Amino acid sequence: MQCNSSRRMAVLILSEYAIASQSTAGTTPEYYDLNYRQPTILDRLSDSAILKKIERQSKSTAGFKQLVRELGLHGAARQELSQRLQRLINSGQLVQIDSDRYAIPKAATSKNVLVGRLSMHRDGYGFVTPDAATLDPHFKALLAGDIFIPPPAVGSAMHGDRVLVEAPTYLGALQAFSVYGAQFLTVPIDDDGLRTDQLESSLRLSPKFMYILPNFQNPAGVTLSEGRRHQLIFLADKYGIPIIEDDPYGQLRYEGEHLAPLVVLDRENLRRDNGFTLGNVIYLSTFSKTLAPGIRLAWIVAPPDVVSKLVMLKQAADLHTATFNQMVAYEVAKDGFLDQHVKRIRQVYRERRDVMLQALQEFFPAEVTWTHPKGGLFLWVTMPEGTDCRLLFRAALAENVAFVPGDCFYGNDLADGCRHMRLNFSHSEPELIREGIRRLSVAVKMHLRTSHAPLEVAGGRR
Ligand SMILES: Cc1ncc(COP(=O)(O)O)c(C=O)c1O
Repeated sequence: MQCNSSRRMAVLILSEYAIASQSTAGTTPEYYDLNYRQPTILDRLSDSAILKKIERQSKSTAGFKQLVRELGLHGAARQELSQRLQRLINSGQLVQIDSDRYAIPKAATSKNVLVGRLSMHRDGYGFVTPDAATLDPHFKALLAGDIFIPPPAVGSAMHGDRVLVEAPTYLGALQAFSVYGAQFLTVPIDDDGLRTDQLESSLRLSPKFMYILPNFQNPAGVTLSEGRRHQLIFLADKYGIPIIEDDPYGQLRYEGEHLAPLVVLDRENLRRDNGFTLGNVIYLSTFSKTLAPGIRLAWIVAPPDVVSKLVMLKQAADLHTATFNQMVAYEVAKDGFLDQHVKRIRQVYRERRDVMLQALQEFFPAEVTWTHPKGGLFLWVTMPEGTDCRLLFRAALAENVAFVPGDCFYGNDLADGCRHMRLNFSHSEPELIREGIRRLSVAVKMHLRTSHAPLEVAGGRR
């Protein structure tokens, strides 16, 4: 495929990736626990316990065979130990001296250990692999330098530039891009995420970038299907338009298969060397939804040229992210607490989502519909034509219950949002969710009665 001028521009700006991605084929995300096997002594040994063992041996070096003997490992367990050691090497916590011996690097800092933890953390999600066979040597340096850049630094649209967003999309992004005078090109979504069949006419208007939320979208909770992910990558390449992939919720999946992030698909195209543009996706994620929003820590995976520009911008904005917060994140990540915590919140949020879906089914009138999010924090309610959610909002407050009216999630055509409400299911206890939906249904029925929309009560459900 020949480069046209806009594509050449994208190549120039985005250069090549310094990350490795993992083909999702053959990857079992750790949270599905599908591959049962007999536990071994390794399961009870944390990484830090393995490192301590290595440290205790003479001159901080240890032979692989010596470790195998000491731990009494056989067969597949030996192979597992070798993979664990390789991961520790990739994360900068261990160095390999020769084919058999390992040592603890003196310069191991909290930062490179955190980078390692994150690699493993992401590995469970099938994104970044610490496997040496596919890990690009630049990757660690890239993450180490730039892991703590918060997503808003990416909003670099020039005054009046066009930015393509989903309709609806994340309010915070609309605000961030608006500061730079961005004009929004909007493309609708449905239950399978962005309508890629409606994308091309907007791409022909040369937006500076597309801002896309593939997983459990905020506000609608929908997920971009696999087929549309491929189509999106193809069109981004065809028109030379970069994608900013914002993925704060990807780890919070409650059902179904993990889908490869756009950045991974883009990278795979690159590896196949089939003429695709080099590195068209900038990936963002954050600790906000898994650890704590107040900690203000996030990371970006992007081509090195993009990252170095972001570093300059960030330094100009705040010199650096609070070291204290980084140390706190390091402490909770280093021994696996964070991974366990994510497993736990998946359980809790899944239950709350189910309670909300059940309560909606029970209390809401039949002509109101809602999405069934497979993860994330939100679901999206669609009211009949003629509804004004801002009026409904007032009626809901009178019942002491609140939601976010849909119009604020639209870049243009705010009126399209007036039929919608965003509901959060992660925050409240199940009994409160049920009571909240019951009260909201009172306001909804009242509103439908007084507006022009016809009211039907779900047959036999109330
Ligand atoms: C899609 C999306 N991106 C980014 C953020 C904010 O992330 P952070 O807290 O790291 O700024 C949110 C939070 O609600 C979000 O929904």
